Amino acid sequence: MRGLSVPVIIAVVILGLLAAVVVVGARQVAAQVERARAPEQPIRFDHVIHVRLAQLDCLFCHRNADKGDAATVPSVQQCMFCHVVVGRGNPEVEKVRAKWDAQEPIDWIRVHRMPDHVHFAHAPHIRAGFDCATCHGDVASMPRVQQVRALNMGDCVNCHRENNAPTDCATCHY
Ligand code: HEC
Ligand code: HEC
Ligand code: HEC
Ligand code: HEC
Ligand code: HEC
Repeated sequence: MRGLSVPVIIAVVILGLLAAVVVVGARQVAAQVERARAPEQPIRFDHVIHVRLAQLDCLFCHRNADKGDAATVPSVQQCMFCHVVVGRGNPEVEKVRAKWDAQEPIDWIRVHRMPDHVHFAHAPHIRAGFDCATCHGDVASMPRVQQVRALNMGDCVNCHRENNAPTDCATCHY
């Protein structure tokens, strides 16, 4: 250590510690963002099983996507169409059956959510020929749904511009 003064050594040690704090902090923030974008649901619903294995169409469950503003998430009753019989004894399926017996809805945690001042409508986009994956990615491969596209104002407006869709403020803002 000859040639290095004590203050320099102390400065190097402090910088090292600061860097470690920044790295740990960044990892925690990244983990929080990940959790926010792919929240854990009250029941482990898996799109891979339902789309790949059970061969269900997105619109079988998200019935309103080509008709109105919200795509909508199916009621427990729609799940019971199969789960009266399928998956008996599977603890996650039993949670669905318990909700049905209690006539309670499942409190799914929203993954995509526009702020209140923004108006988004599914139907015009589906009618314009976009498939779900354009905005939601390959949900059929997601055991847990996560948001993969920004869907912020810049993203919306860019796509509207490219497709000659309206870009005046009132299109998307109340
Ligand atoms: C068996 C019914 C079923 C099918 C089929 C299905 N989904 Fe879902 N979907 C759900 C349920 C239940 C949720 C709510 C729980 C969750 O987020 O995992 C959901 C959530 C979602 C979400 C997140 C909604 C939010 O909170 O932002 C998207 C996006 C989505 N589905 C897209 C699709 C697409 C695309 C397909 C076809 C490839 C599809 N789904 C097929 C039942 C289904
Ligand atoms: C042009 C982009 C776009 C396309 C295409 C699209 N979505 Fe969405 N989706 C969104 C946005 C943005 C939200 C958040 C809407 C909000 O919070 O008001 C959303 C929310 C959802 C939700 C949760 C809230 C709700 O509306 O019920 C589901 C479920 C969903 N989408 C399913 C689908 C399915 C299934 C398809 C294909 C049939 C599809 N989406 C196509 C952009 C899109
Ligand atoms: C068309 C039939 C069908 C519908 C409708 C359906 N499911 Fe399923 N579900 C299946 C099949 C098939 C399996 C796989 C069963 C197995 O592994 O034994 C399954 C498995 C599951 C599992 C177990 C997942 C795991 O990781 O073990 C859950 C939880 C589940 N479904 C929830 C739901 C919910 C919630 C709905 C309504 C939104 C729903 N299902 C609608 C057919 C269906
Ligand atoms: C992938 C390209 C694309 C993205 C991304 C997209 N849009 Fe669109 N949007 C379109 C197109 C194209 C139309 C016009 C459909 C038509 O001609 O009816 C449209 C139509 C609309 C309409 C209906 C306008 C009307 O007056 O009929 C609304 C509202 C809307 N978009 C809001 C949004 C919002 C909010 C977002 C972002 C969260 C968004 N869009 C993202 C392509 C997109
Ligand atoms: C194609 C849809 C679309 C159009 C057109 C659009 N916006 Fe937005 N705007 C959004 C979305 C989505 C958000 C929320 C996400 C975000 O903050 O980027 C937003 C957010 C905003 C916010 C809030 C920003 C913040 O930091 O909270 C303001 C202010 C705003 N827009 C103003 C405007 C004005 C002014 C126009 C017209 C020049 C306009 N927007 C046109 C989609 C749109």
